Amino acid sequence: MLDFSFYRKEFPILKNYIYLNNAATAPMPLRTKKAIENWLNKYVYEGNIPWEECLQLEEETRKIIADFLNAQKEEICFKRNTSEGILTVLNLINFDKNDNIIVAKDNFPANFLPYLKYDKVEKRYISILKGDVLKQIKKVFNKKTKLVALDWVHFLSGYQIPLKEISDFCKKYNCYLLIDGIQGIGALKIDLKEINIDFLVCGSGKWLFPPQGIGILYINKEILKKLKKSCVGWLGYEWRDFNKIFTKKKLKNSAAFLEEGTKNYLGLVGLKENVRFLMEIGIENIENYLLSLTNYLITRLKELFFEIFERNKGSGIIAAKRKDKDSQWLYQELINRNFQISLRENYLRISPHFYNTQKEIDNLIETIILLMK
Ligand SMILES: Cc1ncc(COP(=O)(O)O)c(C=O)c1O
Repeated sequence: MLDFSFYRKEFPILKNYIYLNNAATAPMPLRTKKAIENWLNKYVYEGNIPWEECLQLEEETRKIIADFLNAQKEEICFKRNTSEGILTVLNLINFDKNDNIIVAKDNFPANFLPYLKYDKVEKRYISILKGDVLKQIKKVFNKKTKLVALDWVHFLSGYQIPLKEISDFCKKYNCYLLIDGIQGIGALKIDLKEINIDFLVCGSGKWLFPPQGIGILYINKEILKKLKKSCVGWLGYEWRDFNKIFTKKKLKNSAAFLEEGTKNYLGLVGLKENVRFLMEIGIENIENYLLSLTNYLITRLKELFFEIFERNKGSGIIAAKRKDKDSQWLYQELINRNFQISLRENYLRISPHFYNTQKEIDNLIETIILLMK
């Protein structure tokens, strides 16, 4: 197994907890805290930060994100969170009255609840937890299907949907694909040149580390021209000279036309530093490590007769329960012993990141054995 113990010094929290809760919120690396503090000092000691400096931060962050996803800079825009990305996408598509949307009813609510109130179009439901997602899509798809909206990695089970097959299908039948990537990006490799997604949304705070309140919306440049361009804010236009406020401006011809006003610069500083950090370690290394660590965890839990959710290709998340044991009790006992995990739908959700060690997993297993004696 790869060894990332060198990087544990970035996470002082690891001295106090066995932190296995990255699908909820990850801890912030020290280097990110430092970068944010530097920008905070600008607010404290400089007040007005020159526009060019803000623009440079924006563009550097955009470039790093684009490189990380193997996309183009022009395809990336910043949003506050996953939900804002999803709502933005719904406003961009020209739906006809008879169109339909295919959505997983067990997506995380951020990618499910917005469609409930979206009564312009028919909704057709599938389920990620039932598995064989492409087969289910094919069953309800017709030529009026305009959008398929899915979570890449399921927030509870850790199931990774087959993105390539689904995206090839949507492309072939000319239907938009919207993916919520928040439970995969930062843990698993994604290559947007290889996989034809139209819209990818992702907030930070989980596998990408905090701060929260900053997120990404990727829009495939092939479809940018086709989208509705109503409701554009003032920074959706090209600004070069603030001495010419009233002169007509050109609409940006990139996804950035959706960035309506002044940005969350502290969030951008954090996002840039975090993605740079993940790139330094290498996302392929992180994916390989997480898959072997979670597979090891599954094997150990199965030895203890835990039921594990089906994960398909897997991810950084696993969900486990013992039918004859109260999960709430077990969860609370583990929390009392300084483990950080989540309880979701009566399953223990365990989500390590690259900084966790096999020793910590063994420690978790030994604690469970003691508790269940
Ligand atoms: C799959 C998924 N999407 C979205 C979110 C959060 O959405 P937002 O970034 O809009 O708060 C979560 C949070 O747990 C999630 O698991």
